[in-house]
Amino acid sequence: MSRAVVDPGGGTGSTGLTRPATADPQPHGDGTPEAPRPGRGRYVALAALCLLGWAGSLAVGMSVDYGVDMHRVGLACHILALVLSFGAILVVDWVGFLWLLGKRDLHDTRRLETAAQPLIWGGLAVLLISGALIKPDVSNPLTQIKLLCVLLLMLNGIALAPTMKRLHALPAGTHFTAVAKSLRRRLLIALCISQGCWWTSILVGLLNSTLRRWAGD
Ligand code: HEM
Repeated sequence: MSRAVVDPGGGTGSTGLTRPATADPQPHGDGTPEAPRPGRGRYVALAALCLLGWAGSLAVGMSVDYGVDMHRVGLACHILALVLSFGAILVVDWVGFLWLLGKRDLHDTRRLETAAQPLIWGGLAVLLISGALIKPDVSNPLTQIKLLCVLLLMLNGIALAPTMKRLHALPAGTHFTAVAKSLRRRLLIALCISQGCWWTSILVGLLNSTLRRWAGD
């Protein structure tokens, strides 16, 4: 499996990462073998769960007012969850970036990502729950952008999982440049979506909070 995750035109003999003589029966466009079919249903179920959680958070946030005290508790949880989840994301993306520069081993990123997953997804779950407690103003276009970014960053994380699985099946010492071009592009796009959506959500959250305080709410 791992041998096929290389650029068809750029096999690296030194690491043994050359394209196999016989192609896999149903390779991806990027030269990687088809991900095992049974796993697909799991990712679809996870995406549906995210969508449900997101819609539920919005529905509750729009319709229930828990009062001032609960708002304070919700906001504190919101910030704590943000630190937990985004902190873990930053470290994972940073080590991924170092691998990209050839300064870290591919398996460093795998180990770190596996350890960080509960923090990232647990933090996101708390962000959804606490967001519902602090009365989002969904008529505000900035809030609408933020909420779309929240959904996109979750779906992006799930869509990337099978790709990461194939990537992490590669032997230790595999360099970014030895990976198929289309797969590299996919990784970079996913990284940009992830960082773009996280930073937009954070900045919009901070901006809304500040504007609300200035308005004396
Ligand atoms: C990736 C997910 C999210 C991130 C990174 C994020 C980030 C933030 C940040 C940085 C703040 C400012 C906190 C402060 O200093 O006062 C904030 C506030 C807030 N967030 Fe989030 N948030 C996320 C998800 C959500 C969700 C899902 C909801 C609603 C369903 C939500 C609703 C709110 C509300 C209502 C505020 C208060 C803004 C105000 O005072 O008007 N957030 N968020």
